[in-house]
Amino acid sequence: MKYILPFILTIVVMISLSCSSGSNEQNKVDELIEEMTLDEKIGQLNQLMNFVDTIPVDPYFYNLLKEGKVGSVLNGYSPELIKEMQRISVEESRLGIPLLVGRDVIHGYRTIFPVNIGLAATFNPELVKECTAIAAKEARSEGINWTFAPMMDISRDPRWGRMVESCGEDPYLTEEMTKAYIQGFQGDDLSNTKNIAATAKHYVGYGAAIGGRDYNTTLIPEAELRNVYLRPFKVAVEENVASVMSGFNELNGIPTTGNQYTIKEILKGEWDFQGFVVSDWASIRNLTTHGYAKDSIDATLKAFTAGVDMDMSGMHYLDNLKILVENGSIDESLIDDAVRRILSIKCKLGLFENPYGNNENELLTEQALDIAKKAVIQSTVLLQNKNQVLPLSKDVGKVAVIGPLADAPHEQMGTWVFDGKSENSITPLNALKNYLGEEKISYAPGLKISRTRNREGFPEAIQAARNSDAVILFMGDESILTGEAHSRAELTLPGYQNQLIEEISKLNKPTVLVMMTGVIHMIEPYLEKVDALLYGWHPGTMGGPGYVDLLFGIESPSGKLPITFPRTEGQIPIYYNHNNTGHPADDESWVRMYDIPVKAWQTSLGNTNHYLDYGFEPLFEFGFGLSYADFKYSDIELSKKVISMNDSLVITAKIKNTGGCQAEDVAQLYIRDLVGRIVRPVKELKRFKRIKLNPGEEKIIEFILKPKDLEFHDGEKWIIEPGEFQVWIGNSSKASLMSGFELK
Ligand code: NOJ
Repeated sequence: MKYILPFILTIVVMISLSCSSGSNEQNKVDELIEEMTLDEKIGQLNQLMNFVDTIPVDPYFYNLLKEGKVGSVLNGYSPELIKEMQRISVEESRLGIPLLVGRDVIHGYRTIFPVNIGLAATFNPELVKECTAIAAKEARSEGINWTFAPMMDISRDPRWGRMVESCGEDPYLTEEMTKAYIQGFQGDDLSNTKNIAATAKHYVGYGAAIGGRDYNTTLIPEAELRNVYLRPFKVAVEENVASVMSGFNELNGIPTTGNQYTIKEILKGEWDFQGFVVSDWASIRNLTTHGYAKDSIDATLKAFTAGVDMDMSGMHYLDNLKILVENGSIDESLIDDAVRRILSIKCKLGLFENPYGNNENELLTEQALDIAKKAVIQSTVLLQNKNQVLPLSKDVGKVAVIGPLADAPHEQMGTWVFDGKSENSITPLNALKNYLGEEKISYAPGLKISRTRNREGFPEAIQAARNSDAVILFMGDESILTGEAHSRAELTLPGYQNQLIEEISKLNKPTVLVMMTGVIHMIEPYLEKVDALLYGWHPGTMGGPGYVDLLFGIESPSGKLPITFPRTEGQIPIYYNHNNTGHPADDESWVRMYDIPVKAWQTSLGNTNHYLDYGFEPLFEFGFGLSYADFKYSDIELSKKVISMNDSLVITAKIKNTGGCQAEDVAQLYIRDLVGRIVRPVKELKRFKRIKLNPGEEKIIEFILKPKDLEFHDGEKWIIEPGEFQVWIGNSSKASLMSGFELK
């Protein structure tokens, strides 16, 4: 009898709670809330990680599940354990409410795609959508129904280790990628068991950590918060993202996990976000560490009243919310609101009908691997190609394959990979052997791992290079050196990789350097030492085959930098969409340190916005990336020279492939608002398009802009300000094909 009652109740609730019809969702959720005790409601707001990955489930955790005190679990489980925990919740808890099973499915599940900064370098949202749809389908087949992605933190500081998870420095590119990620993960219908719920994270400003040190304080003025950092989150809300994750950072004095202004007022108020907010890992507990809450009760009160609905692994809600309701600090209707948000997503996911996911079990399908390879090809950025050393000919002769990343199947997957398996990675070495034949390859890593600090392997590597006709160096980082809590003050390659590049360069062989990393390295010194440089990121499962296609010209590189590459760490932060200042630098005004006469008169120094030693230009600008073809942009034309607030502006230009091979380029449209109520950036990306052209082929590119695209926040409100605008089209942020128009 003890077991029969909950069982009958579960069946009744499950039948009445079949909310796949959508329109009844709200009623069903309300009915369930009516049934729930306060403890059960608070249980839904609790997300836990069961650190004991065994079946039967660890007794402590089992009891929590059975008592309905866990709304969601995260990370670290086998599919079998997920199923078992889900079964306990559905079959053994009083109301049988299924679990949200959250996981960091960040750039792939079993099929691993390039790290996110690499995906951004594709400038191809459609492709990113295909990648995330595959990740969703694979994850759901193993019982996962919620991912903590995409990360949309604008990142302008490469010292910040988490730049690798971002879409780079530009709000528009990040917005377009955000849409793609969410559409890919969530599809049109969350109840389709090929889809999973997405999370827009980290809300907000986390990427602006002072000095690039992870978790550091952020200080962002209102206009910049709105124009840069909040924009992608607004887009995520418009895309119906299921959840938003609050951050670890303190923003202008208030930690983002206790921030009423950003969560309650902006996200849930102004934007009317209907999903739920989850904290970051123990970030409610961190409110005390920040010095914003005096104890765990205070932290709970502050996070909850700010609008954080679910506590990730902190146990604060479970321990304290009841006390706060009972002592009148929190009204139970607010708890109901949080529960309603979470249950609605469970309903939308169809978990009440099918808590376990799909049975497709189609991991690493041929289609998934093809898309993964395409993503490697489109994300890799060609930064230098002296003497057209690339593409290599298949008849190149002997090739020396050198470097700690050449055959490192685990490392090439990159950061945040819980479910990819090294045995599925195809390394550059294996792909090259496959393409050229083993006999043509001499492999000598030179360094065991990226951090090796000895020269033991150098002689063999040098010998291999000496006896070969071409050298390919695969340098970079182990995956664990990138990502969360892995910021760096110095962005040179770790270990003795610099020394190895130096030694190999002395041989004067045709040398190609492939950078396999999630870090923006200071690569200027390497450019002199090698002929060609491909920035290949951590490429994931299909790294090897993707690189081979590029190295041998089966495909032409077409990736573009989603982040400005500085010449030296001292230039950071440096980004293309900066303001002009009253003293903009140019080549003429830059006074070189050693050209300054001794005891020169103070005002003879040019007085512009430059460094005496490194000037004002980065090494490579945002949007830059070479191809094996050449592209010529010409004939920019505007449909009107003066537009009104209701008009659209059509901007066209010609693009011609003047090179010798078929290739793709990314045409980019930038604008500048010349005079503003607050100063506007010198350039802003507004549109981009991938275009494939045969040799000699010419096409017209067309972009359409509306006055809404010119809107900005002045610190108090959004405005579209009449005035003059410049517009450029080209294939990087240095685009020089320019015209202009006026908005009346
Ligand atoms: C902490 C990270 O900041 C967040 O991005 C991640 O999703 C959670 N931990 C869960 O692993």
